[in-house]
Parts: sequence; C-alpha cells; structure tokens
Amino acid sequence: MAFPATRMRRLRRTGVLRDMVRETELTPSHLVQPYFVELGTDSRTPISSMPGVDRLSISHLVEEAGRAQEAGVPSVLLFGLPAEKDERASGAYDDEGVVQLAVRALKEAHPDLAVITDVCLCEYTSHGHCGVVGADGQVDNDVSLELLAKTALSHARAGADAVAPSDMMDGRVAALRSQLDAEDLKDTPIIAYSAKYASAFYGPFREAADSAPAFGDRRSYQMDPANSDEAVREALLDVEEGADMLMVKPAMAYLDVLHRVKEATKLPVAAYNVSGEYAMVEAAAASGYLDRTATVLETLTSIRRAGADVVITYWATEVAQWLR
Ligand code: PBG
Repeated sequence: MAFPATRMRRLRRTGVLRDMVRETELTPSHLVQPYFVELGTDSRTPISSMPGVDRLSISHLVEEAGRAQEAGVPSVLLFGLPAEKDERASGAYDDEGVVQLAVRALKEAHPDLAVITDVCLCEYTSHGHCGVVGADGQVDNDVSLELLAKTALSHARAGADAVAPSDMMDGRVAALRSQLDAEDLKDTPIIAYSAKYASAFYGPFREAADSAPAFGDRRSYQMDPANSDEAVREALLDVEEGADMLMVKPAMAYLDVLHRVKEATKLPVAAYNVSGEYAMVEAAAASGYLDRTATVLETLTSIRRAGADVVITYWATEVAQWLR
C-alpha cells in the first residue's frame, strides 16, 4: 500500500530532494547583527548575562562589523551607551553622541553595510524610562515625541540607513516621518517596533545598556503579553503613520503575533530575537542541556517560518559563518 504523498516521506529520505522542497530558507541575507557601542578608545566590556556579547568602543565596532559583513550579514543595529545620562536624554540627540559617531565611522569604513539605529531614550535617561518623565512621575508622551524625532533626525544626518523607534510612544512614527521629511531625509526608512511587549526577556539587555527603570516599569507604554489583537492594531496604525517595515519583539514567545502582523499588513516584518532568548539558549547550552548549534538554527528558522522577513539576532555573524 502506498503512503499518501502529503507525508513527504519519500522526499525526506533523499537529502537533496528534502532540501529542494524546504519551505523556509535561513540565509545570512535576512540577518541583522545588534551591537552595544560605548565611548572609549580601545575598549571591550563583557556583559555577564550575555556570554559572547561585549560592549564595544567604536574601533572594535568597526572591526566586528567588518567581520559580520564578510560573513554575509548585510545590516547592523546600534545601541549607544552615552558618557552621561540625564533627565532629558541629551546624549540621544547630540550630533557628537556615541551612536552618531559610530554611524559615521561605520559608513566610512563599510559603506555598503546597512546601518540601522535604535531610536529610544531609555539608554540616555537617568531614570531609564523610554521617554521624558513629567512632574506626575508619568512618561510624557508628547514631549518625548519631540526628543525622539530629534534623535532620529540626528542619526539620519550622521548617515544611518534606517531608524528604528523602539520607545512605544503614541504617534512616534508620524512624528519621525514628518521631521525626516522636513529635513530632506525623505528616503530614510522607518522600521517601527510596532508590537513591543513588556517582557521579562529584555533583562540582559538592561544590564548591557544600564537602562533598567529606576522606578516603576514599562507597562504603561509596552504591550501586555496577553494581547495579540492589539498588536495588529498597533501595526496597522504604524503602517498608516508611514512605517516602511514593522517589528515584533521578542520573537520566540510571540511567533503567533509575528504571523498575525505579517498576514494583516503584508509589509516587510522584522522579528527581534532578544537578549533573554539569547541568554536562555546560551545558559542551557553551557550546562550541556541543549545542543547549541542545532538550537540556534532551529530557533532562527522558526522565526523565519512564522513570517519574519528579517531576523535581528545576537547570533547573526556566527550563524552567517556556519551557513557559508
Ligand atoms: C530600548 C530597547 C530595549 C530592547 C531593544 N530596544 C529594552 C527595553 O525596552 O527595555 C531590548 C532588546 C533585547 O532585549 O535584546 N527601548
């Protein structure tokens, strides 16, 4: 008796045929490598909760980004660690700030590498919130928008190929778009973190960026993990406001959201495989509980399968090297 052809059993038995009919492709061309950039002339500071990831001074950043590009990773995402933090996040929109300097150095050394910048205030505010905090102790949405738009403009002027607002203030995509358009940066795309959840998986990042909120939490502006209709609404709003690409974050625990956002918008969608997802796999692999390579490849393939056109992952360069 023949097995029904839907089972693909015969195809799977021949490796070549199995590979030919594989539905999802994981190649370096979809990957983005994030970096934490710090000031300093020749420094590299390990992040204890993210083994293998360091904060890099600009010289090391340029070197590592060159390796990423050589491995076939087309794009990097920058987070900055300013020398000083204050209430108004001045370091974020300082034309001589750490991200602005890093963008210029990268574009000079690797002109064909696409440089994306994370646009948020949390790495630059003394209290660690993603916006400016008003007298009532709450984040002031509209004042924050002005500073976020200034930040994006400053990044774009430095040469960023795309800006990625991750703050989750209302109206930020429209605010960034009108600011960029007004300054003749009509062609700078906006990658909107549309569905950014209030997630425990950002823990290691907050160590890396020294950005854990000093009081309260981010639940007034980041999304409730219980919601996915809301994610679709947020995504559609960002499309209306002019986003060129959307993002879902974190990735692994939100693959259903990723799928829904892709289906609902048909826009390019990025997924952020965040610091906690990285740390979790690294810790389990270091203990011998998981096969590291297999787990990383399965994770990234699954994120692609769920609907991600682009995957932002701390493993980008290493995976690209494996895939070659
Ligand atoms: C900044 C920002 C965060 C991450 C990306 N952009 C942290 C946060 O919202 O607390 C997290 C990335 C990661 O965990 O890898 N707003």
